Amino acid sequence: MGLIIAANWKMHKTASEAAAFCRELKQREKDLRGVEILICPPFTALAAAAAALDGSGIKLGAQNMFWEEQGAYTGEISPAMLKEFGVSHVIIGHSERRHILGEDDAAVRRKLETALNHGFTPLLCIGEREEERNRGETSDVLERQLRAALEGLNPGVLKDLVVAYEPVWAIGTGRAASPTDADSAAGLVRQVVEKLLAGESASAPRIQYGGSVNASNIGSFTALSSISGALVGGASLEVDSFTALILAAKEAAGC
Ligand code: 13P
Repeated sequence: MGLIIAANWKMHKTASEAAAFCRELKQREKDLRGVEILICPPFTALAAAAAALDGSGIKLGAQNMFWEEQGAYTGEISPAMLKEFGVSHVIIGHSERRHILGEDDAAVRRKLETALNHGFTPLLCIGEREEERNRGETSDVLERQLRAALEGLNPGVLKDLVVAYEPVWAIGTGRAASPTDADSAAGLVRQVVEKLLAGESASAPRIQYGGSVNASNIGSFTALSSISGALVGGASLEVDSFTALILAAKEAAGC
């Protein structure tokens, strides 16, 4: 399975900063072939990023999306609004939305279904908090989040899904999970998906790792056959660090 490396810029970059980054990245695209690259800017920078990436194979993602088509939902963004900018992927249930903005499993489920129904590729984020990990609850938390998001969905949609394992304690801390942690989380995702499918055949989702990924450590994740890429925060904010990371990921994965 090919690598997918996504830049999650969170609340960073104005439209002009996003355009400058994307123009520069596009110049370097030929060195990065073989990797599916995704830029997820803030909503306000989507148009500028889309224009700067036009004619390239680099894809555009959104960091969030509401589940309704339109209506009185102040501050929310609909699927059609994102489609118009050529957005193909949507991050769903990022831990900052779950834990800072109060998004619960039910909201994540509605957003995931909406994303799938509108033909977006969702990047479904799951991950345990530090205290949950310390209590030995990692598997329970991941299973709960996965079940809430996926139970009852048509198995056919799973091939269009990316699951990002992002342990909350590893995000923005400089303390990445170990490749062993990422590998066992990926194993758990596959197991839960198999249970949910109850014997029906379907392609498994691709699994990314996220949390303090950089050019020095990415190779230890993408060398694993269970990990198909990364969701990158801090190291995606500069073109140099992001391209170095993609090159290291490619080399370790042998693609
Ligand atoms: P950092 O790479 O900054 O730790 O952020 C990870 C993340 O949350 C990506 O979605």
